[in-house]
Amino acid sequence: MYHISIISSSIRNGRKSHNVAQYLQKYLTENKLATSEILDLKSYNFPVFDERLQFQEKPTAGTLEFAEKIKTSDGILIVTPEYNGGFPASLKNVIDLLYAEWERKPIGISTVSEGEYAGSQALIFLQFVLWKIKAYTIPATFPIAKVQEQFDDLGNAVHKAETDELASAFIKELLWSIKLIKKESYPSDVISF
Ligand SMILES: Cc1cc2nc3c(=O)[nH]c(=O)nc-3n(C[C@H](O)[C@H](O)[C@H](O)COP(=O)(O)O)c2cc1C
Repeated sequence: MYHISIISSSIRNGRKSHNVAQYLQKYLTENKLATSEILDLKSYNFPVFDERLQFQEKPTAGTLEFAEKIKTSDGILIVTPEYNGGFPASLKNVIDLLYAEWERKPIGISTVSEGEYAGSQALIFLQFVLWKIKAYTIPATFPIAKVQEQFDDLGNAVHKAETDELASAFIKELLWSIKLIKKESYPSDVISF
């Protein structure tokens, strides 16, 4: 079974997007699709970025743990709110922290807003940044508008059947991408990757 890390990006008190992260974890578990864990950036409480991990002299235990979890996960789900048309600094902070760990990593993005546009502007910025760092963002997304009306604080969807249907298409695409990226389709005497 694949292992998926779910990055919960909002570190705000009273955050709502964390409920989406909890929902996605429940969805994976209930449907026995993958093992998963939430990497909660609020709990990690990373300092503002000042250097990439590979150049840090004394990285913290939390930094090393986070890097190892990204490296060893088969795929990643990123849940991010939209702040002023972009994604939060807490998320950019950890993207810049790592480098090789992101390479060829299949990533699904869930953008979240309390308004009706579901963080569609943050999605564009995040896809670009992840492309620059050589991750693979999957074409399916999980956009959540009016998050405060869609989930409770334990990550239960108010409209479970409809939400599960959207999650199904999203997760299916992530699992397909993981499988594809893991597959060694070319013999190594033709080309080595
Ligand atoms: C600094 C800040 C900027 C925001 N800017 C936007 C925005 O540009 N577009 C939007 O739809 N919602 C915006 N919101 C509302 C968020 O979508 C809302 O807080 C939502 O609950 C998700 O973020 P959270 O997980 O931090 O709660 C903003 C919220 C904050 C705190």
